[in-house]
Amino acid sequence: MEWFNLSDNVNMLTLLGSAAIVLFTLFVAGKYLKQIRDEKSGGELLEHNWDGIGEYKNPLPFGWAIVFLLTIVWTIWYFLVGYPLNAYSQLGEYNEEVRAHNARFEQKWANPDEATLMGMGEGVYLVQCAPCHGITADGMDGKATDLTVWGSEKAIVDVILNGGKGLNYPLGEMPAGLLDEASAKAVAAYMTQEISQTAKGADASLVAMGEALWPTCAACHGEDGKGMDNMSPDLTVYGKPAFAVEVLNRGKHGTIGDMPAFNDGRLSDVQKLAVGTYILSLSK
Ligand code: HEC
Ligand code: HEC
Repeated sequence: MEWFNLSDNVNMLTLLGSAAIVLFTLFVAGKYLKQIRDEKSGGELLEHNWDGIGEYKNPLPFGWAIVFLLTIVWTIWYFLVGYPLNAYSQLGEYNEEVRAHNARFEQKWANPDEATLMGMGEGVYLVQCAPCHGITADGMDGKATDLTVWGSEKAIVDVILNGGKGLNYPLGEMPAGLLDEASAKAVAAYMTQEISQTAKGADASLVAMGEALWPTCAACHGEDGKGMDNMSPDLTVYGKPAFAVEVLNRGKHGTIGDMPAFNDGRLSDVQKLAVGTYILSLSK
């Protein structure tokens, strides 16, 4: 019987308080009932009178009037300074604690090494990304991007052949079929060798062929591949965590569904970097 727990002080006080209120009510009610039965009223009548029903001259009891005024003052104080406007709330306290925790988190991981990033990235991935991209990151049969390929040369060939859209760059879509497959492979080799510098030692003639085709791409991505001030993706960071961070900040309207943007505080900067590092390790 939880409600009758006598070892709990608050419970005990509440119980005694309730008993006192019941006794007091009975006493007062009894007193007035007795008065109604036994006493005749008397005193000075006011002038007005309705069909023989009059009213006694009763000044407001002083104590009652004071308490009444104090109640009004308290109401105003309570509204302005007390709870409703100047509220303490558990939610507010929670938010403050989260902010403080996040600040400590950012500080603690200000300069993470590769192993830390990978560990953190895998954790973030499993919670935030796996529901759509799958535990094995293959995009669950094309529902979301296959991250075991994304960021690789193969993915560059893929985007040249099939185009790309949904990241909401000012230039809009990248059209499909810009080059045939052989040319696309050459451009991919040139891009990873010279533009993003994520690969070394590609076949020199292939790279030269890609360089000759580069103007097709430079039209939108710029001669240096930097994306002409954010008009299109910056290809110098393609295949690096920074590109993934950019994608996460933008979100993507995919062909089957949407990926939300992760720029709403759900992930901190270092967490985005970490998950970017992690997913790119899958396509190497
Ligand atoms: C008409 C302009 C245009 C041309 C030409 C173009 N691109 Fe793009 N490219 C874009 C836009 C816009 C995006 C962003 C697409 C999106 O929203 O997903 C993009 C995205 C990309 C991406 C990133 C894909 C991803 O996974 O997000 C790569 C890589 C790329 N382009 C490479 C190339 C290469 C290589 C060429 C030359 C063969 C080229 N682009 C030509 C406009 C262009
Ligand atoms: C609600 C589902 C959903 C979640 C959660 C999600 N994604 Fe995606 N993601 C998608 C979809 C859909 C696409 C676009 C597929 C397409 O192009 O049709 C996409 C595309 C991508 C791309 C390719 C972007 C490009 O350049 O084309 C990357 C990289 C990516 N997601 C990484 C992540 C990471 C990392 C996380 C976790 C932090 C994540 N996603 C969480 C659904 C999701």
